[in-house]
Amino acid sequence: MANVEYLRSSRERMKAHQKYLEDLDWLGEQENEKSGGYFYWSVYDSPLSSGEKNSIGDTFRPVVPGRLALRTFIMEEFANQRGELVGIELGGSGSQCFADFPKGLFKLSAGVTLKDLRNENARKQDEDRHHHVVEFDVTSPLLEQVLKKKLGIDKFDVILERMEGGLRLDVRDPYFLYQVGNNWYQMLRTGGVMFLQCPTFLHKILPQWVLKVNETTTGTIETKYLGRKRRNYAFLKGSLWISKREGAPGNLPFLTPRELKAAFTT
Ligand SMILES: C[S@@+](CC[C@H](N)C(=O)[O-])C[C@H]1O[C@@H](n2cnc3c(N)ncnc32)[C@H](O)[C@@H]1O
Repeated sequence: MANVEYLRSSRERMKAHQKYLEDLDWLGEQENEKSGGYFYWSVYDSPLSSGEKNSIGDTFRPVVPGRLALRTFIMEEFANQRGELVGIELGGSGSQCFADFPKGLFKLSAGVTLKDLRNENARKQDEDRHHHVVEFDVTSPLLEQVLKKKLGIDKFDVILERMEGGLRLDVRDPYFLYQVGNNWYQMLRTGGVMFLQCPTFLHKILPQWVLKVNETTTGTIETKYLGRKRRNYAFLKGSLWISKREGAPGNLPFLTPRELKAAFTT
């Protein structure tokens, strides 16, 4: 059993979570150093549009329905809701990403990151486009509450998460990660879409999870996942699309402990 890291006792899981929170504090401090010219990650505040360097659109291209560019898909999906949309990037300032959409498409957009590293120009641009940046831990169960307080909004039509290196801090605990994903799903409006980059630790279980969701939710949740089989380089790894349709359940389905164990041990 020693190689089955996910089967932790609750004590071990609490310990791992404590360590995760300490790592986050440490990362926040590293990001703070940026003001002194030091960037912790190589990728920050990436653009949305496919073809641009490190674009968020390229990460999700393999899972975007209709093989469309992410930007095109979102514009077509919400063509009738111009000016009413609310979008958020989790694990990033979302500043450049939302600036790649036509002005006025989103009523409000936001990014949640450990540190707000925007310069003055970006801040001005964001103010003009009704884009806000919130410093908070996206894995916290208090996320929705905090967003409600800071933005006056806690339900979103578009949720994007492409943390790249930031994913390295994941707790290797599928129950914890399921709770995080489910909290984000609960922040998604009916009719909304999420595009998430998932930690590599989940590659073993996500294909099975996708099958289960597609089989058990009778089309009310649509999802597609691309693991690491076809392409193995960072910006195309672990991409997941989820659409929440009318009649979708209040919680995302999850694998049973037996299904989890089977997926991790095969
Ligand atoms: C490599 S950068 C990627 C930023 C952006 N998503 C992009 O694609 O350009 C990783 C980002 O994840 C953020 N991050 C990591 N863990 C986080 C957490 N638990 N809560 C909020 N932000 C987190 C960091 O603050 C950092 O902005």
